[in-house]
Amino acid sequence: MMNNLTWQNANITKNQRRLQKKQSSYVVWFTGLSGAGKTTLANALDHALFKQGLHTFLLDGDNLRHGLNKDLGFSEEDRTENIRRVGEVAKLFTDAGLIVLAAFISPFQNDRKCIKEAIGKRNIIEIYLDTPLSVCEKRDIKGLYQKAREGKIIGFTGIDSPYEVPESSDIVLNTGVVSVNDCVSIILEYLEERSLLS
Ligand code: PPS
Ligand code: ADP
Ligand code: MG
Repeated sequence: MMNNLTWQNANITKNQRRLQKKQSSYVVWFTGLSGAGKTTLANALDHALFKQGLHTFLLDGDNLRHGLNKDLGFSEEDRTENIRRVGEVAKLFTDAGLIVLAAFISPFQNDRKCIKEAIGKRNIIEIYLDTPLSVCEKRDIKGLYQKAREGKIIGFTGIDSPYEVPESSDIVLNTGVVSVNDCVSIILEYLEERSLLS
């Protein structure tokens, strides 16, 4: 017993939910620089899975920071807490039987390792968007890189805040050279090979 807390087992297990929904539940975790394509690909994959009748849910850094994580900023400590909370939410959704698509910069190796341990390595697919900073900065779809270069944002990932490159991702995609459609096909092929589309 920890801090006078006792884990309460639910009557319906995760496996029972999976069987009833006739689908696996797991997390597809997108990591990469701002502008690398996390939101675009998570949405495109969501669409493809939804069309197949699978029950999915998308968690996006920008959106979660409007609600659950609105008290967090972009210091190393806050980013770690952001990812810890999101990992817990993703785990809850997989317990509920869903496929979770997560789109977070998640710049720190140790935070990503903790998520894998919490969710279970077999239940999370890490996709590293290995898109060069120069490409992301050229896209600058929100104008954040320009602000960071002008010193109007302090601690921007890739400019004056680190991004630790993943060492053992399940899929690595350079969205500077691979199209959205091709990226989605590569991901779907991987999921099919692992029998995760049913
Ligand atoms: S993290 O590092 O995983 O906690 O970040 P995340 O929760 O994914 O939030 C990233 C989005 O926040 C916006 N934004 C910033 N990103 C990086 N650094 C700084 N300082 C920053 N300030 C605001 C930005 O829109 C990020 O979204 P993406 O989709 O990555 O562009
Ligand atoms: P992030 O969420 O990582 O910040 P976004 O998805 O918001 O990135 O932005 C990525 C931008 O790059 C979008 O304008 C998108 O249309 C473009 N893009 C071009 N090729 C790709 C690709 N293969 N995958 C994802 N995005 C791409
Ligand atoms: Mg995004």
